[in-house]
Amino acid sequence: MCGIVCYKGRDYAKKIILDGLKKLEYRGYDSAGIALKNEEIECFKKSGRIENLKEILKDNSVDSHIGIGHIRWATHGEANDVNSHPHVSEDQKIAVVHNGIIENYRQLKEDLIKEGYNFKSETDTEVIAALISKYYDSDLLEAVNKAIKLLEGSFAIGVIAKDEDRLVAVRNQSPLVMGVLEDGHILASDIPSLLEYTKDVIYLDEGDIVDLNGKNCTIYDKELNILDKKIDRVTWSMEDATKEGYDHFMIKEINEQPTAIIDCLRDKIHDRHLDLKDNSFSKEEIENFKRIYIIACGTAYNAGMVGKYAFEKFAKIPVICDIASEFRYNDPFVDENTLVILLSQSGETADTLAALRESKKNGAKTIAITNVVGSSIARESDKVIYLNAGPEIAVASTKAYTTQIVSMYTLALDFCKKLNIKDDKWIDQKIQQLSKVSEKIEEILKNQDSIKEYAKKIKDKEHVFYIGRLLDFCTVTEGALKLKEVSYIHCEAFAAGELKHGTIALIEENTPVVSVITQDNIMDKTISNIEEVVSRGADVFIISKEDNSKLRNISSFVYKLPEINDWLYPILSVVCCQLLAYYTSKEKGLD
Ligand code: M6R
Repeated sequence: MCGIVCYKGRDYAKKIILDGLKKLEYRGYDSAGIALKNEEIECFKKSGRIENLKEILKDNSVDSHIGIGHIRWATHGEANDVNSHPHVSEDQKIAVVHNGIIENYRQLKEDLIKEGYNFKSETDTEVIAALISKYYDSDLLEAVNKAIKLLEGSFAIGVIAKDEDRLVAVRNQSPLVMGVLEDGHILASDIPSLLEYTKDVIYLDEGDIVDLNGKNCTIYDKELNILDKKIDRVTWSMEDATKEGYDHFMIKEINEQPTAIIDCLRDKIHDRHLDLKDNSFSKEEIENFKRIYIIACGTAYNAGMVGKYAFEKFAKIPVICDIASEFRYNDPFVDENTLVILLSQSGETADTLAALRESKKNGAKTIAITNVVGSSIARESDKVIYLNAGPEIAVASTKAYTTQIVSMYTLALDFCKKLNIKDDKWIDQKIQQLSKVSEKIEEILKNQDSIKEYAKKIKDKEHVFYIGRLLDFCTVTEGALKLKEVSYIHCEAFAAGELKHGTIALIEENTPVVSVITQDNIMDKTISNIEEVVSRGADVFIISKEDNSKLRNISSFVYKLPEINDWLYPILSVVCCQLLAYYTSKEKGLD
């Protein structure tokens, strides 16, 4: 996730901006930059940490009362100095920082190139600087207003012009708040950047445009009507604010999943149609795939199991989902007719990277599904699909899991479409269903009481079992991993029908068993498996698409999931498991 800090006021901007950027570090970033306006716009930017930027600024006494700063999480183009923000227009008159994604930047860029503009970076942001400079005629507000009318996507921007004592900022689907100081203003992506200097803030709304012109501050709506905004007083502490009010990054990231999924789909669905652009393979290449390997570790591997279902069901290609640390020692069936999918949040996991290299040696085509732009796995694979989930700071992976599943579903549907297994109408329908996942997760996040209650019941237990079949087995495997990882309770996940082949001996009076039942075709089968453990005294928590007397007869803890199509339940049911793990750990007083 990128972050913006801009300042205009009586004080010097450099320190205020650098302090502010430091407070945004929690968002994750791979480069930092600052532009200050004097006679000219002076721009300094560097890949890596803010310290690298400070190093190049150390020998430079330049400062100003107007400046814009940025930390970048690479999305368009690798993390290097040139792609870092701010971006200065070719005529050196305009500088821009941007948080968000400009979806139509390719088209805009092509048009600007035809008009003779020379781009320096691979970013979508440079297009904004180019457009503003194109429209600039001594009035920055007017130029910005013309440029943003052409932009599609999400953007919070801060803009300065060489020839004006002015800073213009816009909020559109990316966060931006304004701190009000006695003699100046700070615009930033998040409140921590302001807190050292002020607790008086104006929360900007979608479409708001801030014009800091000379000594005046005016806020406009999209139509340039002047708005009268109220100043709020922040009551949070610095520590609270960095986690945006959440107690831990894990719960913050669980709550971010609806947005993460929207962001994940942003570059995969265009005008409501599936379109992975160059990130997928051609029809001819797909026809050549006789088998697919999905290679991953841990949570990513669990997501890979759902991927296996997706590719076999939609693309009708056999899939082997393998653990990365096993794969290369196991004489895998990898040749030029094999597609290998490398699933990794970080894009750096050593075993997954080694599996990628081994696959390439054997002639396979490779595709990375990862969250981190420019990571090793992304760089070395033939194709890359990005999760766009924003940085995952908590070690316990949550939003990467759900966005990995979403990404694999889009890729499997893309194969299905290109292989003519289903027609466009059918694919569109699936995309519509997939687009509903985000709002359904919102519903779960508003309904957590029974999960918290069950967390209290299991907090002092030594063992917990998870059972489910087929897609639900993938969910319980991930649910058990999450509970072990954060609550330190021993858990095991079982394919529900497998428990009776020995392990059921461990189920005794009050042993907690979490069961997930979301698939019509195995509903009754799983219910009979639950009856088996109930008859041995298990205390069962059922996470299900149904809530009926059959289930209530065997458990008083039934969590009814919001309605969705069966194939999408793994993305919903896992959220309950994540919450159960989190609240159990919290009940135990663990950090
Ligand atoms: O970055 P990766 O997705 O390659 O990491 C793989 C696993 O280490 C990771 O998924 C791990 O299992 C989770 N952090 C557990 O929550």
